[in-house]
Amino acid sequence: MNSQKILVCAAWPYVNGDIHIGHLAGYFIPADIFTRFCRLKGIDTVFVSGSDCHGTPITVEADKRGITAKELVSEYIPKVHEIIEQYGIDYSLFTSTITDNHKKVTQEVFLNLFKNGYIIKKKSQQYYSESDNKFLPDRYVEGECPFCHAKGQRADQCEVCGRTIGLGELIEPYSKLTKAPVTLKETEHYFVDFPKLENSIKEYVLNHENAWKDWVFKETIGFINEGLQERAITRDLDWGVEIPVDELPENQRIEFAGSKRFYVWFDAVIGYLSATIEYCNSKNLDYKDYWNNKDCLHYYFMGQDNLTFHTIFWPGQLIGQNLYYNLPYFPSIVKFLNANGQKLSKSRGNIIDAKQVANHFGADAIRFYITSILPENKEGNWDWTDFKNTINAELVGNIGNFVHRVLTFYKNKLSAEKFEAELDSAVETKINETFTVVSDLLEKNQFVAALNEVKKFSTYGNQYFDYNKPWEKLKLAPQEANKIIFNCLQIVNSLRILFYPFIPEASHRLSNTLGLTNLNPTPGTNQFQFTSLPLTDINLVENLVPLFKKLEETDVEAFTASV
Ligand code: MF3
Ligand code: ZN
Repeated sequence: MNSQKILVCAAWPYVNGDIHIGHLAGYFIPADIFTRFCRLKGIDTVFVSGSDCHGTPITVEADKRGITAKELVSEYIPKVHEIIEQYGIDYSLFTSTITDNHKKVTQEVFLNLFKNGYIIKKKSQQYYSESDNKFLPDRYVEGECPFCHAKGQRADQCEVCGRTIGLGELIEPYSKLTKAPVTLKETEHYFVDFPKLENSIKEYVLNHENAWKDWVFKETIGFINEGLQERAITRDLDWGVEIPVDELPENQRIEFAGSKRFYVWFDAVIGYLSATIEYCNSKNLDYKDYWNNKDCLHYYFMGQDNLTFHTIFWPGQLIGQNLYYNLPYFPSIVKFLNANGQKLSKSRGNIIDAKQVANHFGADAIRFYITSILPENKEGNWDWTDFKNTINAELVGNIGNFVHRVLTFYKNKLSAEKFEAELDSAVETKINETFTVVSDLLEKNQFVAALNEVKKFSTYGNQYFDYNKPWEKLKLAPQEANKIIFNCLQIVNSLRILFYPFIPEASHRLSNTLGLTNLNPTPGTNQFQFTSLPLTDINLVENLVPLFKKLEETDVEAFTASV
């Protein structure tokens, strides 16, 4: 990873509900670990995302609650910001898709695609409610299943027999909202001509065969090999980015464009570009340094359900502009995270809310556990017993314990006289090796393995302490004791750096305890490496408290009972 710049793009959460552990595992936490790591390496790293405010996920929820879409997103946007704050997700900018800048950029992207011949207009049939005088998205239409005749089924799929229902096949369709009957009516929309972009997209994907995760590559190429279809990028909806029809030649305008908006997945991915522009404008930077510069690598973080939008459609939207935009370099995609063996779902009542769980256990514990179970290549599972055991055995019993016993020993037995001692060459090698291995794994976005190496390094520290028994050497060979603790302190300080990307708050607490300033990433300076810490720099706090708190069975019970 010798790039001079990195752009980290995390998926944009829909602001129609609270953030839960699925969002944390899907992108907030892995994207933040990677960003913090890159920055500590000294790489100029911009990290953007925002609230995904458009589309039927928003309007359906607003209708359900009897409020406007605008009111709904205004309620949830600040809540996402609270989560970001609480978990210390280090965005350069977390914006939203309802800004003027985003609207402008989205329209420009559309016009560029149009100019280059990648946009076509087409008529198709869509459900229409005469009484409401509007077209209804599929999610708003229900009726009888044409196959098993179950009533009250969604327009696109029957929940009873599982069959896919084609447009117009539903029997006696009606509006979910008003229950009024709906009919099919012709409507006109813009489509992206993906068949025309297929070769370029395929070439781009094939170029990354060896760099991407195997299953990500296979799923992407499999989808492309089925043949890409033209995709509608507008909807009959009054909430979303308006279509700039006035900028198009008259014979290229679609009918009733004023009552149509861009499809949410067309505009949301453009957010990566618009957010970078917004950020750069606010900092007097040039966004082209990140988007048109081959030395800037783009990493995207998301859950598996977002895959095709990021590995096929978004690259297509970028390629079709002919502006030499950087394409996704690495799609860092994870599978689903379940809870207690079941899919996270509201109706099952097993959503684990991000805010509540951090209020109860602290963000570090949640970041640590989620990283340990990150579903990098297969579905993952949040299990409360495993949570308690992981925190107690690893965070508290391994890392916390090592730091605490070293610092307590140093403070109580030694720190009165600052001494000089030498670093054991075996310890030095171990530290250097650990930085190299963790660094390699983080570069490859293998977060579970990277964290395991950090845990192993702490285990090594504990073993070193146990094996050398500094307490036995105090009287007869104080120089020996000094040396052992000096080595242990170097391990402690290395841990402070190594776990900074994973649990930044704990790293800050450890800095405070040692009387050091917090790690402060600086472009151009690699701090993710071994640096010897002179004892004269250490100024321990008066009251040494353990870095992490042990969890009792009752802590977990108290939490699960309270939600
Ligand atoms: N809002 C989408 C979801 O939650 C993700 C959008 S990612 C984006 O599934 F980049 F396209 F915005
Ligand atoms: Zn059916």
